Amino acid sequence: MAIRMTRQITRRDFSVLAGGLLVSTRAVAQMQTPLLTREILSSGERIPAVGLGTAYVFDQDDGATRSKADAVLQALVKNGGRLIDTASTYGDAESVLGEVTAASGLRDKLFIATKLESPDARELKRSLTRLKIASVDLLQLHNVRSRQQSLERFREWKKQGLCRYVGITSTFHRDYRAVEAVLEREKPDFVQIDCSLDNRGAEKAILPLAADIGAGVLTALPYGNGRLFKAVHGKELPDWARVFANSWGQFFLKYLLADSRITAVIPGTGDPGHMTDNAGAMRGQLPDPDQRRRMVEFADSL
Ligand SMILES: NC(=O)c1ccc[n+]([C@@H]2O[C@H](COP(=O)([O-])OP(=O)(O)OC[C@H]3O[C@@H](n4cnc5c(N)ncnc54)[C@H](OP(=O)(O)O)[C@@H]3O)[C@@H](O)[C@H]2O)c1
Repeated sequence: MAIRMTRQITRRDFSVLAGGLLVSTRAVAQMQTPLLTREILSSGERIPAVGLGTAYVFDQDDGATRSKADAVLQALVKNGGRLIDTASTYGDAESVLGEVTAASGLRDKLFIATKLESPDARELKRSLTRLKIASVDLLQLHNVRSRQQSLERFREWKKQGLCRYVGITSTFHRDYRAVEAVLEREKPDFVQIDCSLDNRGAEKAILPLAADIGAGVLTALPYGNGRLFKAVHGKELPDWARVFANSWGQFFLKYLLADSRITAVIPGTGDPGHMTDNAGAMRGQLPDPDQRRRMVEFADSL
């Protein structure tokens, strides 16, 4: 045990024992650096650049899920985060979030984004009821698949104060053309698109257009739904990456955050420790262009 601890301490670069917890001095120093926020281009409002995705993790509305969600939300807020992304179709996630935010009094500290399958007033009412709120921060049209899809109703709802921002989403590359057409015509406040170190198609197809029309970008699936963690399983973080990342999670998220066209990343997690780790990507330096190229080479070699 003593030998294992000594090795760990060496590997973690001068770790310290604080309150019985092994904490890397790099992590401590990182927590003292300013929080990374990004401007929403359509309004000038700033939001913290790491949020929380809720697909799969809060699907079932029961006591265990609520206490898990509460712990994750507390970790998000404690570490400077605000953004939560959910959807009308993520099982009971909206209900779980509604219960937890109402009970914890966290609503005012959060930026809540949800998604509807269509511009249907009944679906919006259901989402607001489940979330226990009168309005959402961001209302997104989920999985855009046709060039003709309109955000007219969403904009009406925005005028009525039912949402503050409107957006569209997709994680299907076959639908990127439709996404581009809707982006160009409707000019929403946000587009949510899949993008990760090993899935960079949106960097060329969607991100330049979003920047042109002044839309914020949320990156869905920033870990490729966990695929990136499997790819590095058993591998140590390379030494050259330790100057900007304390963990693989931060390595993957900081690759995205170094792209200033990205407003926020929304990794999904049901684990408060992972939430804290993810939020740590909002602190400390970001990889420079050379380091980013190295990250791509590294990912392509896996
Ligand atoms: N069409 C759309 O609009 C669309 C489609 C897909 C996703 N999304 C949004 O994007 C969000 C993110 O996607 P996702 O949740 O499917 O995939 P993801 O964020 O790419 O990966 C989630 C996986 O990573 C693990 N993880 C998270 N943080 C970690 C950490 N620090 N260390 C180790 N493992 C970690 C999670 O496990 P643990 O729970 O154990 O942490 C989970 O298995 C969704 O939740 C949803 O909000 C939108």
